[in-house]
Amino acid sequence: QKGGYPHFMLKEIYEQPEALRNTITPRIVNELPDFTEDGIDDEVFKNLENITVVACGTAMHAGIVGKAMIEKELKIPVNVEIASEFRYKEPLINEKTLVIVTSQSGETIDTLEALRLAKRCGSKVLSIVNVKGSTIARESDYVLYTHAGPEIAVASTKAYSVQMAAMYLIGCRLGYVKGIYSEDRAKAFIRQLQGVIPVIEETLKQADEVKTVANYIKMAPDAFFIGRGLDYTLSLEGALKLKEISYVHAEAYAAGELKHGTIALITENVPVIALATQESVYGKMISNIREVKARGAYVILVSMDEEYNDKDVCDKHISIPKQDGLFTVFSAAVILQLIAYYTSDAKGLDVDKPRNLAKSVTVE
Ligand code: M6R
Repeated sequence: QKGGYPHFMLKEIYEQPEALRNTITPRIVNELPDFTEDGIDDEVFKNLENITVVACGTAMHAGIVGKAMIEKELKIPVNVEIASEFRYKEPLINEKTLVIVTSQSGETIDTLEALRLAKRCGSKVLSIVNVKGSTIARESDYVLYTHAGPEIAVASTKAYSVQMAAMYLIGCRLGYVKGIYSEDRAKAFIRQLQGVIPVIEETLKQADEVKTVANYIKMAPDAFFIGRGLDYTLSLEGALKLKEISYVHAEAYAAGELKHGTIALITENVPVIALATQESVYGKMISNIREVKARGAYVILVSMDEEYNDKDVCDKHISIPKQDGLFTVFSAAVILQLIAYYTSDAKGLDVDKPRNLAKSVTVE
């Protein structure tokens, strides 16, 4: 069942190229994103003025990545809400809001109740769901199924990647339908999205490098993930993954926020996983890294090979292949998943079934 892998989580990490291929390819017609087969009407995109994403945990983190991408590219406001908060308030949504509900299982109770509330408010609901025929899928106006296949490990990995891919596909279609993207731009976007698949295959070859990092992190009580822009949105997921399965306390920070409090926690040997894949803020990231390094942190830098020319800045460098910064989240996510996986494994923990957690949270 584990296909020769020691744990489902590792198997699922390695299944990501296939999961992405299965999710992206059927939605590409004439080199453009196309949801005709999914029954998603373009009217829903034409009419929307804003988007609210509602989800929990990792699925919510995929929404935060989607928000950063859509707002950057399309200048359409995207609000991301934690489902358990959203469902108990009077949400600021209406018939001009597209509510995107994201859930691997399609059964998370808070997410389901948030969906029902969104419909009562008159919004259209498009869900991104992995499990066919699940309750969330059945109750949504539109469903964009991710085709990750069954995810067994409690820690979500491949479902996260395909949820991000679904957000990217939606963003591209939305941009195209609204005339924000030209046909050429939409086609170029799709080529780059397809390009993440071989890039992830390449990135997986870094597993041994990551293992050495995990052997360091396993000794630490705390770890910090820092980044800017899309890298920051991804670092939220990196911290969750590490906490969830390795029980190392971890926090994600927008790198520029460090000096507003958190840098007080940076002392000798604290692992700091720094993501620096965003060209426009690369220099700023390097200065943030120098700041934590000066306080004794053990810095693990994840960046693109060709951009990495500040060799003295980190203790360990993990490279991802060169690509457009809008798409680096996919390969960098793989590195963060592997960090969490190998740390948990090095600590001898039950990687697939971390304590106190269930795969699907169907009770309140
Ligand atoms: O099935 P869902 O996507 O609705 O689940 C949401 C969260 O419970 C889930 O992503 C959780 O955060 C994962 N265990 C994280 O790895």
